[in-house]
Amino acid sequence: MSEIDRPEGTAAPAAGGLPAEPLGVGVGWEIGAEGLEWTELFPRIARQARYVETAPLYDPRSLDRIRGDLAADFRFILHYSGLTLPGPTTRIEQHFPILNGLCRMLGSPWFVEDLGYWSVEGSDLGAFFPLILSEDSLRTSIANMKALQAGVSFPHAPENPPFSTILGDIHILDYMSRLSRATGSPYLIDVGHLYSYLSIREEDPLLALSRVDWQSVVEVHIAGGEMVRGPAGRWIYDDNHSKPIMPEVLDLLVLMLPRASQARALTVEVDYNRAERGVQDPLDVAVSNFFRAHAVAERWAPWLVDRAPRTETTSPARVAAAQ
Ligand SMILES: [Fe+2]
Repeated sequence: MSEIDRPEGTAAPAAGGLPAEPLGVGVGWEIGAEGLEWTELFPRIARQARYVETAPLYDPRSLDRIRGDLAADFRFILHYSGLTLPGPTTRIEQHFPILNGLCRMLGSPWFVEDLGYWSVEGSDLGAFFPLILSEDSLRTSIANMKALQAGVSFPHAPENPPFSTILGDIHILDYMSRLSRATGSPYLIDVGHLYSYLSIREEDPLLALSRVDWQSVVEVHIAGGEMVRGPAGRWIYDDNHSKPIMPEVLDLLVLMLPRASQARALTVEVDYNRAERGVQDPLDVAVSNFFRAHAVAERWAPWLVDRAPRTETTSPARVAAAQ
């Protein structure tokens, strides 16, 4: 990205396209989505939240509506969907101009997407299926990542998906590190998604974490969730973003953060669906989840927690946050 393209207030990228300075702790929240209102959420987390990670938004006015309340150094990260990196029939080049445009509009230093199948032969699935952990799928992901790197100006950090059933023999953390080594890409570990995988396999978390290439982990996700009945009646972890963060998932974050010394961002994903989840107090749950994860970062990843005073504004949200 040239100096001319870089939005005001964004840091210069370091070698490899990633910013040298951490973004800090932010929220995963879909701009423009209904339910959890930005005007209610943001004032309660404004003093600690440094960025929003959002789904694609195609109307810049919804971005402008929240930008007015934000400090000049507030950032955005694009959480894309639809690439289908492991899909053999994906037409990945169709996404290049969209990705370049969205990242420029948001000033997103990199963009993320869960590794999985969002479409099959051009048909949108409406959600995604987690990837098949096979050599075939890994080869496809590597080829698509290389094409992506050649066609898009912003680095892609793929994310380990949630699992309710595991297909294929490659360990998810080996899959991520092999994809990263073959392409030089950074990657993202979602703590809850990893918990879903480890709990199905009844695997020791510490042993599993020894498989991670920590130097390449640029971002960590955490969210609320709960145990639900899965296929064959077995209890599985559902990373639904709506419920309080489970203590076991917070414990896994404590194990991960000191190892993730190159991480530039910790995203607390707080989007939710009130009707579907039956959450009575979604705002309180979201705020509590944010600060519980923030407290872990203060203790175990102090480089993510900027204690310098923020740029002040006089917007109503700022004033409310200061009270
Ligand atoms: Fe995530």
